[in-house]
Amino acid sequence: MRILLIGSGAREHALLRGLSKDPATTQLDVAPGNAGMGDLATVHPGIRVDDADSVIALARDLDSDLVVIGPEIPLVAGVADALREAGFAVFGPNRDAARIEGSKTFAKDVMAAAGVRTAHAEAIHPGATEQDIDAALGRFGPTWVVKDDGLAAGKGVVVTPDLAAARAHVEDVLAGGNPVLLESFLDGPEVSLFCLVDGETVVPLLPAQDHKRVFDNDEGPNTGGMGAYAPLPWLPADGVQRIVDEVCVPVAREMVARGCSYSGLLYAGIAWGQDGPSVVEFNCRFGDPETQAVLALLETPLAGLLNSVATGTLAAQPPLEWRDGYALTVVLAAHNYPGSPRTGDVITGVESENILHAGTARNGAGELVSAGGRVLNVIGTGDTLESARENAYATIAGINLDGSHYRTDIALPAVEGRISI
Ligand code: GLY
Repeated sequence: MRILLIGSGAREHALLRGLSKDPATTQLDVAPGNAGMGDLATVHPGIRVDDADSVIALARDLDSDLVVIGPEIPLVAGVADALREAGFAVFGPNRDAARIEGSKTFAKDVMAAAGVRTAHAEAIHPGATEQDIDAALGRFGPTWVVKDDGLAAGKGVVVTPDLAAARAHVEDVLAGGNPVLLESFLDGPEVSLFCLVDGETVVPLLPAQDHKRVFDNDEGPNTGGMGAYAPLPWLPADGVQRIVDEVCVPVAREMVARGCSYSGLLYAGIAWGQDGPSVVEFNCRFGDPETQAVLALLETPLAGLLNSVATGTLAAQPPLEWRDGYALTVVLAAHNYPGSPRTGDVITGVESENILHAGTARNGAGELVSAGGRVLNVIGTGDTLESARENAYATIAGINLDGSHYRTDIALPAVEGRISI
């Protein structure tokens, strides 16, 4: 199978690794890729992921049998639709279905129709008066959850006990021309559950937990994700099945009923509260960085699995096989991330095979340099979560990148038994 992967982050590096291990894969290409991917695939830099014409032209040149779309931007822009119309098998939902991530309002509408538990929400639209905004904020709190209605790379959400900070984010989002959503705060530990979805067929992967705040102890602003682990030792034995039955299957059926059947990866971001799972958000693609941990444990060949979704045959797949134990990933971020990251710093100490690249490039001298906010991910696996942590942190300690930072407490609350539901 000749496979073209679209994207350039550590999530795509993890996908490439998985695809490369499947004996069914005969050729791997990635666009635009990053500086760490060249030993696994032919890298095609310079392709814009949301430029459907360029992606189709590349897939034609390569005679690709399967195109796997990693990030949300091309999915929301309709690149999967264009590829399908051009005759390619595609892993990733069409534009209509990708609205589950692209529009928080659409996702709320689907959940209401499907009877799926989620936070109460109210939209504020550009043009709202000061009084409208104050009145809306007054109906929420004491913890305010303020979300950009559109895509914001994980950084469009502010969760704060500070009314002034909540108001400032409302004004920022409205000034950018987007509606803003106020939501009631969902208490309880978070679960990221990725499900392969092919119409009404839903197959869950292992549950994972992301750490979204930039600093230890969940302090500082939200990021795209600073680390993750899988599976979750504190989740009840029926936890995954409950999320599938109470969230993912009803949503998949509702999408079919609306004529925008889902095909790809549905990411359910869940808060596990007193009544069980409630939806914080959906994403229309693999999560980053959770994928890096989840795929480290998957033994089922990945190319065949993604191809079965793309060709509408997921229901015929045998049960997934997983390696025992745990996997953990830690993100190494550039100086000043999640603000404007400093780029161009030389990186050394990346020889371990447990390192995935995200924001990396080569400079004129051929040195590896930082080229984005989240620069590298390290992976640790082990029979216990504690040993997975030790392995990941031993690897990250050997990397040199001036001004970089990472969280030291990924999975620590779970290891210390501090998560209960
Ligand atoms: N880990 C958060 C995300 O992928 O959106």
